[in-house]
Amino acid sequence: MNSIRQKFLDKKAGGRRFAALTAYDYVFGRLMDDLGLDFLLVGDSLAMVELGHPDTTKVTLSQMEHHVRAVAAGARETMIVGDLPKGSFDTPDQALAAAQTLIQAGASAVKIEGGREVLPMVDAILAHDIPVLGHLGMLPQRVIEEGGYKIKGKTPEQAEALKSDAEALTRAGVFGIVLELVTPPVASEITKSIAVPTIGIGSGKHCDGQILVTYDLLGMFPWFRPSFVRPKADLAAEIRKAVSAYREEIENEPVG
Ligand code: KIV
Repeated sequence: MNSIRQKFLDKKAGGRRFAALTAYDYVFGRLMDDLGLDFLLVGDSLAMVELGHPDTTKVTLSQMEHHVRAVAAGARETMIVGDLPKGSFDTPDQALAAAQTLIQAGASAVKIEGGREVLPMVDAILAHDIPVLGHLGMLPQRVIEEGGYKIKGKTPEQAEALKSDAEALTRAGVFGIVLELVTPPVASEITKSIAVPTIGIGSGKHCDGQILVTYDLLGMFPWFRPSFVRPKADLAAEIRKAVSAYREEIENEPVG
């Protein structure tokens, strides 16, 4: 068993909670490196918050690699998880090659969206000792097929499917599972039934830990904020204020 999985199992067994955030570049990697976070996720959400795409479906592996490298230059202590983008893990060989690319760029682990259907890819990656974080519930990479961001676990069939997926991923050897937009009772049930930690996002407070897109936490993406986010700052307003103050100062300086 890889040491990251053992560490996560032990921490959950000790009743301790997990806190993680996303990072996309050197500055944030470095600023957040010594704050005791369990990991920094270079999420494919970078498609939206860094590249201005409408969703995560078109970000490429080489863009993910570029951002993992930047975060790794700043975060020397905190574990970095690289997100496998849509289209990079359609077969076991492709998934392994994609995971190796992100590891070579500086990640210590990779995240993969999906349940039992991605097990062959998870197995191929784990067989090469690369730790894997699962991701269940609302899967942003499938937003187009699913026609929007829908809460999962509302029907008994969905709840059963989520539980079976979580158990299968745990048996395969993932070190944790992100639960995104899962109904809180189902997220809580899954959390109690598996040994590895659940890391929730929009899935209630009974997961073992939480993850957020850092810009949502900091109020840096004012154009859209998910309803479950409670921002701890309003940096968009601070940035705009500072830039305006700078411009005014320059404009009011006498020439010559
Ligand atoms: O890409 C991402 O940011 C994610 C979330 C779980 C935070 O996958």
